[in-house]
Amino acid sequence: MTKTSLPDTVVPYCAAHTSAEDEVLLALNRETNLKVHGAIMISGHLQGTFLQMFSRATRPRRILEIGTFTGYSAICMARGMADDGQLHTIDVDEELEYLTDKYFRQAGLRDKIVTHIGQAATVIPTLDEQFDLVFIDADKASYGLYYDLVFDKLSPGGTIIADNVLYEGDVTLPHEQQSKNAKAMHAFNEKIMADDRVQQIILPMRDGLMLIQKK
Ligand SMILES: C[S@@+](CC[C@H](N)C(=O)[O-])C[C@H]1O[C@@H](n2cnc3c(N)ncnc32)[C@H](O)[C@@H]1O
Repeated sequence: MTKTSLPDTVVPYCAAHTSAEDEVLLALNRETNLKVHGAIMISGHLQGTFLQMFSRATRPRRILEIGTFTGYSAICMARGMADDGQLHTIDVDEELEYLTDKYFRQAGLRDKIVTHIGQAATVIPTLDEQFDLVFIDADKASYGLYYDLVFDKLSPGGTIIADNVLYEGDVTLPHEQQSKNAKAMHAFNEKIMADDRVQQIILPMRDGLMLIQKK
């Protein structure tokens, strides 16, 4: 019989056998954890490495990130872009811009990353671009809206990656036991499941990553 759950030692084992963070990401991770409220939101080593390798494998020219936070995932994805690539990233929190700016510079990516401060639902319609990769990692209640707003801006064959789709596993609870955010994530997962314009998979990495590819 196949075992369906893995011991708690597996994630540290995976981290120990995943290419190490470089100096810039290590310093950004450390400074975020020392200074920023809600540091747990950072993509971090394993997910960041996945995003970097996915980006490098697909070589996107235009990337859109919804939810910059301190810039960790933006740096990871931008490192995989095509040589003439550009990443747009949106966050409502202007107080983190000093950190993102510092680390985008240190990563040598300042001229490749366009930072937008504002509500994602307001900023997305102003972007006149076709995106090859979109990373949705902001307020959970709006994932469905962000999906609808970006869909026509996504290239054929382009990918949307949505974070936190398992919401600590709570999406599997009976509906009445789910938190507001878990309900929102479950509704998002059902919405994508019903959309025959895309192919999708949920990877049980960290808090759950859904890869959604436009046919
Ligand atoms: C989970 S964090 C993003 C983590 C980041 N992608 C990373 O991997 O390090 C979510 C971010 O979404 C931002 N956010 C929340 N609601 C938003 C909204 N309506 N519009 C834009 N950004 C929003 C928050 O300020 C927060 O920085």
